[in-house]
Amino acid sequence: MPPLPCAELHLHIEGTLEPELIFTLADRNGITLPYADTADLAARYAFTDLQSFLDLYYSNMDVLRTEEDFTDMTRAYLRRAAQAGVRHAEIMMDPQAHLVRGIPLVTCVGGVAAALSTSEADFGVSTSLIAAFLRDRPAAEALTVLRDLIAMEAPIVGIGLDSAEVGYPPSLFAEVYDLARAEGLRCIAHAGEEGPPEYVWEALDVLRVDRLDHGIRCLEDEALVERLIADRVPLTVCPLSNVRLRAVPAIADHPLPEMLARGLNVSVHSDDPAYFGGYLDDNVAALVDAFGLSIDDRARLAANSVRSAFLGGDRRTELLAEVESWRRARHSSPAG
Ligand code: ADE
Ligand code: ZN
Repeated sequence: MPPLPCAELHLHIEGTLEPELIFTLADRNGITLPYADTADLAARYAFTDLQSFLDLYYSNMDVLRTEEDFTDMTRAYLRRAAQAGVRHAEIMMDPQAHLVRGIPLVTCVGGVAAALSTSEADFGVSTSLIAAFLRDRPAAEALTVLRDLIAMEAPIVGIGLDSAEVGYPPSLFAEVYDLARAEGLRCIAHAGEEGPPEYVWEALDVLRVDRLDHGIRCLEDEALVERLIADRVPLTVCPLSNVRLRAVPAIADHPLPEMLARGLNVSVHSDDPAYFGGYLDDNVAALVDAFGLSIDDRARLAANSVRSAFLGGDRRTELLAEVESWRRARHSSPAG
């Protein structure tokens, strides 16, 4: 039975660096890592919160030096994503995390974009690129980087906001989002992962986002839930990430079933799959194990992902038809 076809909408390309690739790139670039081997590195992936993950995530990026490194990382992700059933991927990257290490935009953006430009031919996965800004760095820096991306005509469809959330409310970045919108870029932002519901309100009302990353803490504010339902705001939810970063205690406590039942426009994604124990298919499998998600629920999540993507009509129609075929085939197979 083929995997559930879906769109990956919440994926940090730097979060796809698997331990093996980290060692390969370190070797290629003459870097000595502070870990004995891949097992020693993987043993450090016991996170206590978002910051404990971010510390390792940024540190491991040091192995990304050349355009080829960025291309190889992206191609490795696309190969694995295709196996997971991903048919379209909107991929975030963190340009500032590379600029601060002295890696120019042309190298990091060019390397990722090179892999994306042939993703449909190579892996059957249509793709687009989103530049995410680090909210724990100054907004003025984000504005400069956005202007540079626009000036170099970087092949981005939108902007995002990520990194340490608490203490860095979305409103700090109003000017960045105003410029992005004026340039015709789509706008997304992480909000309500560790941060409070107020940050989700700000992402909606100040940044005027088209889509929210995480947003799980919206359930603490009934008026916010009603607003998200009324406007059908897409929420890209990442269950394994939420468990690993202790935003929820265990998968059995994850609010996804409640979010679905409330009629929120949720879809399931993988965030940083190399760090959190799995790709998109693993996230869906964890939900199926924990909650016995039905075939129709799975198809609904996949259809939500396709409808929430920044996709043109033809590709959207094609992918929705694939989801419906999967649903019908699953219903008629004994394994379904
Ligand atoms: N950057 C990479 N993964 C992230 C996450 N889960 N939250 C915030 N910033 C991130
Ligand atoms: Zn994320």
